Amino acid sequence: MVYQTFCDMTTAGGGWTLVASVHENSVYGKCTVGDRWSSQQGNNANIPDGDGNWSNRNTFGTAESATSDDFKNPGYYDIVAEDMSVWHVPNTFALEHWNLAAILRYHTNNRFLRLYGGTSLSSSSNRRPAITIVYDHGDRESTTKLYGPNPRREFEAGFITFRAINNERAAMAICSGVKPTGCNSETYCIGGGGYFPEYPPHQCGDFPAFDWDRLGQSQGWSASKEMTEAAVLLFYR
Ligand code: G3P
Ligand code: CA
Ligand code: CA
Repeated sequence: MVYQTFCDMTTAGGGWTLVASVHENSVYGKCTVGDRWSSQQGNNANIPDGDGNWSNRNTFGTAESATSDDFKNPGYYDIVAEDMSVWHVPNTFALEHWNLAAILRYHTNNRFLRLYGGTSLSSSSNRRPAITIVYDHGDRESTTKLYGPNPRREFEAGFITFRAINNERAAMAICSGVKPTGCNSETYCIGGGGYFPEYPPHQCGDFPAFDWDRLGQSQGWSASKEMTEAAVLLFYR
């Protein structure tokens, strides 16, 4: 398999391959075009798995445009990985500036993916692991502040969590940087299926309810503009 990607050969000894980016092109889109990590088919109870891209072998986008649109390459399902690294990079930044522009960078170092056959993201497991992270830029406090005041009361920063379930039993794919301790995970976890039952269709999307209070300025349930307008880049090694 030959494909273009981006590698980080610096962080913690290097060897990190970019396999995906989760980009929110419009938090007001509600499972419309561009919502590849949830659904582009509308908030629909009949399509609970949405576009299915967390677990299928579909690929899309290019590495260069990973901060301007969604990206997924064959490495996502081909690489037998041990650890994950995540960069939150402001939208549209050019590849050569990602490292410096990132608002958060962190990685796991306990080889947790070995427990999940090397690809936890594509696993359909119902387990909900929270993996401790090591920060490369930012810290638990800056992670917490990137989200709204209400979400801050229901998560703990310093983790990557998979498959969070919210109050209405909608599943989100990944809570990157945090471990939920409450159930409004639509305000701090990303990706998931194609049906979000609370106030339909308002929580459906790649960053489900990151701007719930429609302020975009870190009030109520709304994350900061920095967070809502930053792509989440996922690396494997
Ligand atoms: O996800 C946040 C939402 O459940 C908050 O609801 O009624 O406080 O705006 P409400
Ligand atoms: Ca998207
Ligand atoms: Ca809620």
